[in-house]
Amino acid sequence: MADTTGKTIECKAAVLWDYNQPYSIETVQVAPPKAGEARVKLIASGVCHSDASVQNGTWSSIGPAPIILGHEGAGVVESVGEGVTSLVPGDHVLTSFLAECNQCPVCENPNANFVCQKIQTTFNQAVLVDGTTRIKCKGKDIRSFTGTSTFSEYAVVPEIKLAKINPEAPLDKVVLLSCGVGTGYGAARKTANVQAGSTCAVWGLGAIGMACVLGCKHAGAAKIYAVDINPDKEKKARAVGATDFINPKDHEKPIQEVLQGLTNGGCHYTFECAGAVVTAQAALEASHPSWGKSVLVGMAPQDKTLSVSPFTLLSGRTWMGSFYGSYKPRTDIPKLVDEYMKGDFPLDEFITHRMPLDKINEAFDFLMTGKSIRTVLEIGKL
Ligand SMILES: NC(=O)c1ccc[n+]([C@@H]2O[C@H](COP(=O)([O-])OP(=O)(O)OC[C@H]3O[C@@H](n4cnc5c(N)ncnc54)[C@H](O)[C@@H]3O)[C@@H](O)[C@H]2O)c1
Ligand SMILES: [Zn+2]
Ligand SMILES: [Zn+2]
Repeated sequence: MADTTGKTIECKAAVLWDYNQPYSIETVQVAPPKAGEARVKLIASGVCHSDASVQNGTWSSIGPAPIILGHEGAGVVESVGEGVTSLVPGDHVLTSFLAECNQCPVCENPNANFVCQKIQTTFNQAVLVDGTTRIKCKGKDIRSFTGTSTFSEYAVVPEIKLAKINPEAPLDKVVLLSCGVGTGYGAARKTANVQAGSTCAVWGLGAIGMACVLGCKHAGAAKIYAVDINPDKEKKARAVGATDFINPKDHEKPIQEVLQGLTNGGCHYTFECAGAVVTAQAALEASHPSWGKSVLVGMAPQDKTLSVSPFTLLSGRTWMGSFYGSYKPRTDIPKLVDEYMKGDFPLDEFITHRMPLDKINEAFDFLMTGKSIRTVLEIGKL
């Protein structure tokens, strides 16, 4: 293959010219990486509800289009910029929407992952660490969602957002660990630290909720209630570890009251993975008033707020939130990949569809209509 180091690469990408519009497959120009960056040849990308929330305007603080979305990505380093010490061309990497510089107070705190101070001002701005972007299309700068832009054959990504992983791992599967499965699994194992014998309930059975169910199961939970308004999710939820499936639409009483009744007052752990305030409220109130822990994972619309009576918390509950399962991306993603290689993660259960990048609009249709858990876009070949 021709050496592309230092040269602009022309390739295909799914560009979003404006919000609430479909993706458009375009030829883009990807500049070489600058200091502290690597250019990655993407092999696979998952489609996550968070991309959809930006695309459809639910999350509007990202700034103007055009933009290339995609943050659940797996690929191979093509070239590196000045000063990059942890990666060399040929390394296999997973992208992260978070960063880990290993030097700031957030990265040095063993219990924190949000947000590495190196990206504090640019987080949510759809630019790289220096505030600019490396991709152009039709002469225009194209912004880079979370600085990863994985819906492209090549992307320039900050070194601190790339986790180097075991090169034996199948990139078109472990890609799910870079967001969806890592997020849900970590919410149960790390954020909540679910204990053996406990009772759990998980709202929203997409990849994140399903992975959360799996995390509860691996932690030894005795009861795992999987809650979704889509009855088609029951089979898969049971396959990854749910002991019970509850569709709130089948009950006249609010779902929190149903669960309080089933669990002698409330669950030990509840997880909101649907991304709505109504489910956040239900999950909070379904946790036991004294010892319950409720974790917010889903990203409800930015303009929505929750109203909670102080007594809901005064009784002793814990209410928490979690980005990427409280994991540190560059330290913990490679460990999750190693666990997968040992056979601990049934990632195939989460991959319901595979499509080429050109079918990205269909992949999002499947996600938003509940027909898929995760579609893996097969973008490039090793
Ligand atoms: N915190 C994080 O780090 C993080 C990371 C990734 C994604 N997310 C967020 O997690 C959420 C889930 O993402 P996903 O990709 O799994 O989405 P998804 O669309 O695949 O799954 C969402 C599920 O929620 C269900 N649902 C919707 N309304 C419901 C209700 N009222 N009660 C019960 N279930 C309901 C849907 O039927 C669907 O099965 C999104 O909000 C996403 O933005 C958060
Ligand atoms: Zn995601
Ligand atoms: Zn940091």
